[in-house]
Amino acid sequence: MTTEADARRTVISAIFGTLATQAVGAAARLELADRIGDGEAGTDELAPACGVPAEQLGRLLRALASLGLCVESRPGRFALTEAGALLRRDTPASLLDFAAFLTHDVFQRNWLNLGESLGTGRPAFDTHFGEPVYDYLSGKPELAALFHAAMSKRHLPVEMAEAISGAYDLSRFGTVVDVGGGDGTLLAALLGRHPRLTGTVYETEAGTARARETVTASGLEKRCRAVAGDFFAEVPKGADLYLIKNVVLNWDDERASTILSRVRAAMPDHGKLLIAEPVLPDVADADSLNHAALENPYLTDLHMLVTIGGRQRTRAEYTTLCARAGLRVVRVAPLAQELNASLIEAVPDSAV
Ligand SMILES: C[S@@+](CC[C@H](N)C(=O)[O-])C[C@H]1O[C@@H](n2cnc3c(N)ncnc32)[C@H](O)[C@@H]1O
Repeated sequence: MTTEADARRTVISAIFGTLATQAVGAAARLELADRIGDGEAGTDELAPACGVPAEQLGRLLRALASLGLCVESRPGRFALTEAGALLRRDTPASLLDFAAFLTHDVFQRNWLNLGESLGTGRPAFDTHFGEPVYDYLSGKPELAALFHAAMSKRHLPVEMAEAISGAYDLSRFGTVVDVGGGDGTLLAALLGRHPRLTGTVYETEAGTARARETVTASGLEKRCRAVAGDFFAEVPKGADLYLIKNVVLNWDDERASTILSRVRAAMPDHGKLLIAEPVLPDVADADSLNHAALENPYLTDLHMLVTIGGRQRTRAEYTTLCARAGLRVVRVAPLAQELNASLIEAVPDSAV
């Protein structure tokens, strides 16, 4: 049974979420986790490097300790916990860029307009920043670089490539296009595992520049190219497999079904589409969510609404969206919890 104190704690901790966000954002910007490193560090040592007086730095570190990100081993001396160490840059699954990105001033300010988006169903970003978020990012190279770094680290591309290869037999395919493939890390990891496969990262102009760097760094120039284009207009034709990860969720039904229609138009009849995205349960249930999802998809859903006008969807909603684009969903397989995604397989619908 829920006591009154439990009920109050639930509400207050939801309200305090915004304060925790700011503390984590400040820690990320001060690169505190890297500065503390493996051992422990005192506020006196950290203060000059951070450019923050020791007194206030200690207050921030105590707040971080209260969130489980570090421990105060002796007064004024702090060591990272395993969770806090994920905010180091040099750790493989680093969440530093993701923390810096989501707590960035631009996105924090945009969240203040949630009420507006709730009323209109449209992304407040466009009105308050004068243009859609991807256009805005293309004019801000530093923020765009942070966005791509955040996406590729947060989504564990190497583990995702392993999971896709485990759930799906890629050896029967010759060519794959990763539609909106970001900096190309996922495709490079897939090609690394499947030597007969050749691939294309299809991205915006800015996205392909980053993807080319990944391709070169992975030594995959002979089997992988980066093609610039607009997935609302067309998608490279004729591949055996199309991959879309965390792209459909960026857009409302109209725009998302346009992208899927472009993929359908590009696909040969034997082609397959794999969408790797989070799939919402049919009803929101906080208990099952706590066990089943690493991230809260309903808060991400609001983030999509206010930032870009996208949404998170249930299996039934993905199925309807695919059907609108002439695609039939034939399988939905949840991937490991830390990947925060299911694999939705769709094929051309011969009935269309
Ligand atoms: C949320 S990110 C996902 C990136 C990558 N698939 C991943 O999972 O990390 C969406 C991607 O779509 C790309 N994008 C946005 N608009 C596009 C367009 N009109 N045509 C092609 N790519 C686009 C963005 O540059 C961005 O990399």
